[in-house]
Amino acid sequence: MRGSLFTALAGALLLAQDVIAQQPVSVAGFKAPTFVLRRDGNSNYACKCYPGDYCWPNNGQWQKLNNTVGGNLRVNVPPGAPCHNTFKGPLGDVQTYNQAECDRVTANWYDEQFQVEQPAAGLWTYFTNDTCRPTTNPADSCTLGYYPVLVIMAKTVSHIQAGINFARNNNLRLIIRNTGHDFLGRSVGWGSLVINTHGFQDIKFTENWRGSCNYNGSAVTVGAGVQAFQVLKQANAMSPPKIMVTGECATVGVAGGLVQGGGHGPLTNFYGFLADTALEFKVITADGILKTANSKTNGDLFWALRGGGPAAFAVIVEATYKTFVDKASSGVNLEINTADSSVFWEAVRIFHGYSTHFVDNGLYVYYELGIGGNVLRVHPFVGIGKTPAQLNAVLKPMFDELDTLGVAYTTSSADYPTFYALFQAMFEAETAGTSGLTGGWTIGRKDVEQNHTAIIDAFKTVTAAGSFMVGHMWSAGHGLPQNEWSSSAVNPRFRNVVDKLITIVPIDGNAPLADKAAAQQKLTYVVDGALRAAAPNGCAYINEADPFAPNWQKDFWGDNYAALLNIRKKYDPNGVFYAVSTPGTEKWEQIETGTRLCLKL
Ligand SMILES: Cc1cc2nc3c(=O)[nH]c(=O)nc-3n(C[C@H](O)[C@H](O)[C@H](O)COP(=O)(O)OP(=O)(O)OC[C@H]3O[C@@H](n4cnc5c(N)ncnc54)[C@H](O)[C@@H]3O)c2cc1C
Ligand SMILES: *[C@@H]1O[C@H](CO)[C@@H](O)[C@H](O)[C@H]1NC(C)=O
Ligand SMILES: *[C@@H]1O[C@H](CO)[C@@H](O)[C@H](O)[C@H]1NC(C)=O
Ligand SMILES: *[C@@H]1O[C@H](CO)[C@@H](O)[C@H](O)[C@H]1NC(C)=O
Ligand SMILES: *[C@@H]1O[C@H](CO)[C@@H](O)[C@H](O)[C@H]1NC(C)=O
Repeated sequence: MRGSLFTALAGALLLAQDVIAQQPVSVAGFKAPTFVLRRDGNSNYACKCYPGDYCWPNNGQWQKLNNTVGGNLRVNVPPGAPCHNTFKGPLGDVQTYNQAECDRVTANWYDEQFQVEQPAAGLWTYFTNDTCRPTTNPADSCTLGYYPVLVIMAKTVSHIQAGINFARNNNLRLIIRNTGHDFLGRSVGWGSLVINTHGFQDIKFTENWRGSCNYNGSAVTVGAGVQAFQVLKQANAMSPPKIMVTGECATVGVAGGLVQGGGHGPLTNFYGFLADTALEFKVITADGILKTANSKTNGDLFWALRGGGPAAFAVIVEATYKTFVDKASSGVNLEINTADSSVFWEAVRIFHGYSTHFVDNGLYVYYELGIGGNVLRVHPFVGIGKTPAQLNAVLKPMFDELDTLGVAYTTSSADYPTFYALFQAMFEAETAGTSGLTGGWTIGRKDVEQNHTAIIDAFKTVTAAGSFMVGHMWSAGHGLPQNEWSSSAVNPRFRNVVDKLITIVPIDGNAPLADKAAAQQKLTYVVDGALRAAAPNGCAYINEADPFAPNWQKDFWGDNYAALLNIRKKYDPNGVFYAVSTPGTEKWEQIETGTRLCLKL
């Protein structure tokens, strides 16, 4: 991918063997003129520029950037800092203690929206290295950990352009940050400059889209920072009430990481991924140029932005999606909690054996398995456009089998005038501020048909390892015409998937490094390893999976990977953008305990 650069840098290294830090390196024809050469283990690396390096911009340069972005450049202070006397950051010490602010941070630490609104916080604190947590002892140390160093609170297109240009020209680690929901830590990064896009809040509906696609129905154009609950509320207020594909979590953004990973949700049975419903993007590419991407203009970029991986091809400024008329819907909850393991797993086998049946009848099923022991919580089964009688008819064979087994369960049901009303009433709020490693796999229709006993054994392996699972049953091929299956870059295998699992391995963000490494091994090879083996027709979802799986390219994108790699080379040949395990990042590593981002030479 970066052949000439490699050759030139390798040459420079041969001249100067051992550790070469703080040495200017220029490579003809390469736009970012400065690298820091490091040695880690037995390898040489060319790294981005960090505080203290010769190539880190000086105060005058930062001030100039601040002027260009309208004074919206901020030194990043971790959200827990008001509880600490001193924040010891890479740019110097700052006195931060503030009792009232500390109380506010402490009271809201686990609240998703509180963390979303911090300039550069990550909802999963593992990836911030869990430094500078709220505390009652102001003398506790507060360091930056893996939080970013500076943040541009972007308000206009030109602010984003200035941030991209500055990061590219100075070879800085650049992070695009919207809501900070990322399970893989991709919206934070050690030593980085952040462009925060959450300020892009426009929402505009149209009844007759006049764009490039063969589509002239209703649509909505949203700014990069809009969250699901905001757009869904306005859509519901229309007459008749409208709806669009979003995730099941109302606080995730709809024009950032979600669509670039694909974006599945309760409507996926009918309309596919959020990416499948996208009509157009306005984006800024690594060269700092504002572009339109739709089926006629920059079609390759349009395709890649629809599931090809976040922060890999461009920064999205706004996105336009199809909207749909909402429908009366019904839902059912089910909870099984029993001390008898053999009865419990038989009940899980019965429930899960119907996954194909559920999605073929248009149901969306959200469930949690193994949180707090032998617990299966289905919260809820969703029948969009279904009456309670129709939903119950689909569920009846499962309930009959559970009754025959004699397992105790609780269940409840309700129906609503719209899916939106059901969504608000039956889906539960999630929390932020906790630490864990996220993995995941999907189960193919064929796997359920051919290997179901092994799949349930794999579930047992997951829970026995101290991990737990969140399942999402849908079929992204159920209601979507087959000729639209390849219109976005998501792995083609998703069209035959019936259950998408998230696995979580709890681990403290400040655990000893050996424990962190062991948790990662457990996730990759024990927990997800068991699921991969039992469901060989599945694949993995880039937004909710282990980025360090051995075959991530194939797992995430299958046959689409080669095309995505070419599009990455075309639009970001020099690695201005970086998110772990996105197309073309094979040679990039975070060395020195997950800190410096470097090209391996
Ligand atoms: C509680 C919870 C529930 C979830 N439920 C679902 C679900 O039902 N369905 C589903 O598909 N996913 C779900 N997710 C996963 C979700 O898709 C990802 O976390 C997603 O990356 C969040 O995107 P964001 O833009 O809101 O967050 P961020 O963390 O801010 O960004 C995520 C990634 O996108 C990049 N990015 C953000 N904005 C832009 C932009 N404007 N241009 C370019 N790159 C950008 C970031 O650099 C980062 O790599 C869930 C996550 C959580 C925490
Ligand atoms: C950028 O400018 C604003 C407005 O003058 C100022 O408040 C802010 O501290 C500056 N940021 C930095 C990093 O100096
Ligand atoms: C991150 O945490 C680990 C312990 O888990 C520690 O060894 C390391 O120094 C920390 N790094 C930073 C940059 O905070
Ligand atoms: C929208 O497209 C359909 C068919 O694709 C066509 O019949 C209809 O006239 C179009 N409507 C408008 C308002 O252009
Ligand atoms: C079924 O699962 C087992 C155990 O993981 C695996 O070894 C086997 O290859 C799977 N068989 C099929 C047909 O998928």
